[in-house]
Amino acid sequence: MTQEELFKSLIAHAKEYGFIFPSSEIYDGLSAVYDYGQLGAELKNNIKRYWWDSMVRLNENIVGIDSAIFMHPKIWEASGHVGAFNDPLIDNKDSKKRYRADVLLEDHIAKIEEKIEKEVEKGKKKFGDSFDEAQFRATNPNVLRNKEKAAEITSKMNEALNSGDLEAVRQLIIDCEIVCPISGSRNWTEVRQFNLMFSTQMGSVSEDANVIYLRPETAQGIFVNFLNVQKTGRMKIPFGIAQIGKAFRNEIVARQFIFRMREFEQMEMQFFVRPGEEMKWYEHWKAQRLAWHKALGLGDEKYRFHNHEKLAHYANAAADIEFLFPFGFKELEGIHSRTDFDLSQHQKFSGRKLQYFDPETNESYVPYVVETSIGLDRTFLAVYSTAYCEEKLENGEERVVLKLPAILAPVKVAVLPLVKKDMLPEKAREIMNDLKYDFNCQYDEKDSIGKRYRRQDAIGTPFCITIDHQTLEDNCVTIRDRDTMQQERIPVEKVRGIVEERVSFRKVLEKI
Ligand code: GAP
Repeated sequence: MTQEELFKSLIAHAKEYGFIFPSSEIYDGLSAVYDYGQLGAELKNNIKRYWWDSMVRLNENIVGIDSAIFMHPKIWEASGHVGAFNDPLIDNKDSKKRYRADVLLEDHIAKIEEKIEKEVEKGKKKFGDSFDEAQFRATNPNVLRNKEKAAEITSKMNEALNSGDLEAVRQLIIDCEIVCPISGSRNWTEVRQFNLMFSTQMGSVSEDANVIYLRPETAQGIFVNFLNVQKTGRMKIPFGIAQIGKAFRNEIVARQFIFRMREFEQMEMQFFVRPGEEMKWYEHWKAQRLAWHKALGLGDEKYRFHNHEKLAHYANAAADIEFLFPFGFKELEGIHSRTDFDLSQHQKFSGRKLQYFDPETNESYVPYVVETSIGLDRTFLAVYSTAYCEEKLENGEERVVLKLPAILAPVKVAVLPLVKKDMLPEKAREIMNDLKYDFNCQYDEKDSIGKRYRRQDAIGTPFCITIDHQTLEDNCVTIRDRDTMQQERIPVEKVRGIVEERVSFRKVLEKI
């Protein structure tokens, strides 16, 4: 099965089992907007808890807030979003399709990089055990030529985008002979800037109404509350403010399922530090965030850093944590050293002082900020796409199993009476009524036990416990492990301990 086919299967699976539905489906859907179903909402809540606990509970100097989506419109002028939160767009005149010019170029570069990887694979096959990959990459003429080509296009693209030279962006698309995937033609319009913020009106009568924006990031809600939190929480620098919430962007190229959406959720933390100490904290948070990802156990090799060479004017360092999604390595989280840009801008635009008096140095200053910003939906996709497995079993049967990290699984225990009679359902309910205070449980008595196991595998439930006739006599149940499918007979009193051991947030948090 190709990666593309696998990706399609997991999207279908997400819908079939109540994880993710296209939004407004009975009206044929709304592009790039999705709803989380009954299991998706549970999984999402578990991801939020993992993030929130790692930030707010485990760090005495980080507190969490929940600011409003609607904010004063001047905030978005101060932050630079009104003036510069733009995507460069280009239309193909034949297909009438609109594209992000930078994405067309990035896809073109990715194709060149794919050629390099194919060449390396060919080399591996040809030379077998004696293959020296590093040497091959450094000397093979095809690899070197493509590397140079990719680097040249990347550099030209960055230069054109950073200087806002839209004609140069268009010229590069033409020079690279990029064609529209729909029409196959190179009949391109000029490149234009398009602001990504959604706007609406606030006010009871249209004449009085003010244009306001749906926030494109949660971070500004943190910046404008910096002093409120610092004073009321008696916070001393360095300290952080964390927030989870919705953000909205009118993405033109919205694709790859929940990877790029128009309404999504972010988990952001702004860490306020003494000017001059930001690089130390930037490195600290880079390491911490990578450790957070790795502790989930999706595979260390699935993560890599992408350090930004070209920086936004307000940043003095920035890196992405990229994840190996089914469609390649893509940004999952950003870690940015944002200097004092945001607080200084808000000081200027609001006319209010946003300074901190440092009792250790006896100075007042505008703190510097190191930001960690992760997409909740992208984390969902990272977890879900890694967990999705189509397995061939030894007995020739097939099963679809979601090997989710147990702490994130929507349902932790399925309680299954072997048959629907002989007091087994009553006994099963009794066990479930006790377990449900500790874990999210699901009761199921329909169909054969084999079918019920498959249903639980498909939603990633780490444990199934089966109640049979013997249970009524010895108070023992069969506990089945999702991944190994091993079954063990244990006393009912031991169930809680076994499940707790596996689904404990503590064990994962301790690894960070
Ligand atoms: N406050 C900084 C900020 O918003 P960003 O790189 O624009 O930085 C941070 O966004 C994270 O939010 C990204 O790494 C990504 O995970 C997520 N994100 C951004 N745009 C998104 C979209 N359209 N759909 C889903 N997630 C998105």
